Amino acid sequence: MSDLLINGFGDDLSVNGVRIGDLTPLEHEKIEKEKGGQNYAPLENVVISKVKDSSTLIARKPDPHDINKYIESEILDGLCCYSAVNQGQLNQTIVDAVIRHLDEEKLPTVPRSIRHKYMSAFLLSATAVTKMDRVIPKVAGVESWELSFKICRRWGYEVKGIPDGKAIIVGAKGNFHGRSLAAVSFSDDPESKENFGPFVPGIELVPYNDVQALENLFNEKGEYIAAFMVEPIQGEAGVIVPDDDYFQKVSNLCKEHNILLSMDEVQTGFGRTGKNFAHQLFGVKPDIMGCGKAAGGGILPVSFVAGRDDVLGLLTPGSEGSTFGGYPLASVVGTYAIKVMVDAKLAENANIRGGQLMKNLNQIKDQYSDKIMEVRGKGLLTAFEMFDEKKLDGHKVSVGLLDHGVYAKETHHTTVRLAPALTITSDQIDQLSDAVGRVVASL
Ligand SMILES: Cc1ncc(COP(=O)(O)O)c(C=O)c1O
Repeated sequence: MSDLLINGFGDDLSVNGVRIGDLTPLEHEKIEKEKGGQNYAPLENVVISKVKDSSTLIARKPDPHDINKYIESEILDGLCCYSAVNQGQLNQTIVDAVIRHLDEEKLPTVPRSIRHKYMSAFLLSATAVTKMDRVIPKVAGVESWELSFKICRRWGYEVKGIPDGKAIIVGAKGNFHGRSLAAVSFSDDPESKENFGPFVPGIELVPYNDVQALENLFNEKGEYIAAFMVEPIQGEAGVIVPDDDYFQKVSNLCKEHNILLSMDEVQTGFGRTGKNFAHQLFGVKPDIMGCGKAAGGGILPVSFVAGRDDVLGLLTPGSEGSTFGGYPLASVVGTYAIKVMVDAKLAENANIRGGQLMKNLNQIKDQYSDKIMEVRGKGLLTAFEMFDEKKLDGHKVSVGLLDHGVYAKETHHTTVRLAPALTITSDQIDQLSDAVGRVVASL
């Protein structure tokens, strides 16, 4: 007999007799601490169980009367998986498409060395929505950035004529592009780098939203610089929105110095900021961009690089690849993620609901001007930053919000990001803001 028995579904899912539905939040925590990596510190005393509606989750918390039991409560999802669930949890159109393709259309799983018919649907929709010539599918968000990095270097050598091994890629301080070795080499966050070196060479960083610094570097080393790779709005850094004319000037500088403008739209894309892609807010078009997160409709990791023919066209067979990038299920989900963004007018709703949220947050700021320093955002990518005082602790806010039935998470000690699903209703925005107001009042 096998010494590993796995059975059942949902709460009845059991592994060697341990039924998932019987575990208390403390027991879940113990398993994770003993058997998982220690690279996350999740909010304590809460375990997410299931979806109630597109912005509401059912969570389990310890039963105050019996430590061996749990109680269930509703939580408004104010983060939507770091903008991976822009279409709302379990978006019905996407779920129906997945079930239908798996069940009725007998969706195969094949690698890229043989063509499958769903790739065409994905490429047609992704090139149309991004208004780019070519699209290359990947899986995680970081892979879209990493592939952009490689393509920019190749362009530097093959098109710009940078001497072999001398290409420089420029980034912005405070960037976040993921956790691969190239991405952490690009980062200036010491925590993400400690003892992971040696790092990828050929990287230079300039302050974000500082045209002069970029111009100085381009003047000094422009002949070796292949690309400036940048987030249109820095999400992980705490929703840092650049000046309105920053990217116009950046785009002009890049053209002047024959340097590619590469944008990371992993977090800002798919309607999040009130436009399908955030670069549209600034009236510029990158030469190459990466998308991820909501590109997978909130249910599957799907990412892609989109860009100009003369840039993406430099890849040759064997130079790049990915087993699951654009495989049939990812192609179907990717196609439907785009369909829902367009049909449900997600960017428009992000604008409307984002306006409502920003208004509410600014009212809270006016009321507690001794606590909240700034409210920032575009569309439904928003954050508020508190003054740097001991009592004004972002983590305390996250824990307090949970007590008020809202899930959101600090990005830094004093900054809390709010980025709910783009399908969120007006009432839910008020509920979210109300919880923020109460928690801020209690600090
Ligand atoms: C701008 C940006 N790029 C890349 C990534 C990495 O995406 P993933 O975690 O899917 O690799 C993130 C994740 O937060 C991001 O915000």
